[in-house]
Amino acid sequence: MDAQYEITVIIPTFNEEANIADIIEAVNSTLSANNIRGGILVVDDESRDKTIEIVQNLTLKYNNLKIIVRHEDHGLSQSVIEGFKQANSDIFIVIDADFSHPPMLIPLFYGEIKKGADVVIGSRYIHGGKIQQWPLKRRVLSLGATGLGRILFPEITDPVSGFFALRKEVISGVQLHPRGYKILMEVLGKGQWKSIVEIPFTFTDRHNGESKLTFCIISDYAKQILSLAEYSLTSRNNQIWNEWKKMAKFGFVGFSGVLVNVGFLYLFTEYLGLYYITASVVAIEIAILNNFFLNDYWTFDLKDEVNSFTQNRLKRFFSFQCVSIIGLIINIGILYTLTDFFGIYYLVSNLIGILIVFFWNYLVNRHTTWKL
Ligand code: GDD
Repeated sequence: MDAQYEITVIIPTFNEEANIADIIEAVNSTLSANNIRGGILVVDDESRDKTIEIVQNLTLKYNNLKIIVRHEDHGLSQSVIEGFKQANSDIFIVIDADFSHPPMLIPLFYGEIKKGADVVIGSRYIHGGKIQQWPLKRRVLSLGATGLGRILFPEITDPVSGFFALRKEVISGVQLHPRGYKILMEVLGKGQWKSIVEIPFTFTDRHNGESKLTFCIISDYAKQILSLAEYSLTSRNNQIWNEWKKMAKFGFVGFSGVLVNVGFLYLFTEYLGLYYITASVVAIEIAILNNFFLNDYWTFDLKDEVNSFTQNRLKRFFSFQCVSIIGLIINIGILYTLTDFFGIYYLVSNLIGILIVFFWNYLVNRHTTWKL
C-alpha cells in the first residue's frame, strides 16, 4: 500500500475467517461507489484460523489492501494504534470485521471530517442509533461502560464506540497506551481535538464467529478510566481537564450557595421575624438563584447571553430548579434513612447526603441543563 490515500480503513482482526473476505469486499465497493481513494489495512494478531491466508490472497486482487500481522502484545487497541502508525493517509477510520458496524456509512464519516470535524463517532446511543441482537447481559455491561465514559466526556453519547474516524493530527505527537477494547477513550482523552460529530448507527451483533470480550477486558477498562483521569490531572491540556475544572467550579458555586442559604435564613428569621420554615424555603430559592447564575455565567461560561434573558436561559433555569429540588429531596431522604435506620450521627449522614447530591446535581445538570 504505497499510494497516499484520502482515507485508511483500519480493520483489526482476530479469527475472522468467516467475515473478512466479505467485509473487505463491502468496504471496497463503498469506497469506489463514492469515489473515495481509500486503502484498507487489516491488523491481525496471529489469528489461528485462515484469516491471514484469506487476506494475503485478496491482496493479489485488491492493490489497496495490506495486512500487518503483529507478533507481540496482542490486543484490539494495540492493533488499532499499529494501524494508525502504518496508515498512509491523513484520515483514519476504524471498523470491526464482523459487520457490527455498517461499512456503507464510511462516506458519511469521511464527509464530516472533510467538513471540519476532528473526530467522527458512530453512536449507538444518539437519536436514531440502536443495538440489535445483544443479550441483556451485554447491554447492561455496555450501558455501564458508556455511563462511566460519559463522566469523562459528558458531551459524547458513545465514547466507547469501536466505529470512528479521525484526523491524523488529533493523535500526532501523542503517546497512546491503551489496553483492552476502548481505544476511542484513549484518543479522546489524550488527543488534541475541538470538534466532534456523532453519527447514529445500528450496531448489529455478529452473525459469524464470536466476540472476544472477556472479564480481563472489562477490568482493563476500569484501569483505563483511572489512568486517563490521572493523565488529565498531570498533563492538564485536554478535554478531561476542562471537565474537572467545570466540576470544581460547580462545587465552589455549591459551597457559595450554602453560605447564601445560611445567611438569608439567619437574616429572615432573626431580623424579619419570619417563621424559620418559611424563611428556609425563601433562603433555599435564593441559593438556587445564586447557584444558577454563577454556574451559567462562570462554570459553563455562557457570557455571550449576558444582556439577553433569553428563552434558553429560562429553560436552563427551569431545568436547574427541578434538578435542585429533586436533589434536595434525595438529600433529606439520605439524611433520614442513614440517621433513623442505620443510627449514623445526623451531621455525618448530612455530609454523606451532600456529597451524593453534589454528584447527582453535577451529572444531571451537565447532561440536561448545560448539555453544551
Ligand atoms: N487485532 C486484534 N486483536 N483484533 C481483535 C482482537 C485482538 O486481540 N480482539 C478482537 N479483535 C477484532 C475482532 O476480530 C473484530 O474485528 C473487532 O476487533 C471487534 O471484536 P469483537 O470481539 O467482536 O468485539 P465486540 O463486538 O465484543 O465489541 C464491539 O463493541 C464494543 C462496544 O461495546 C467492538 O466494536 C468494540 O470495538 C467496541 O468497543
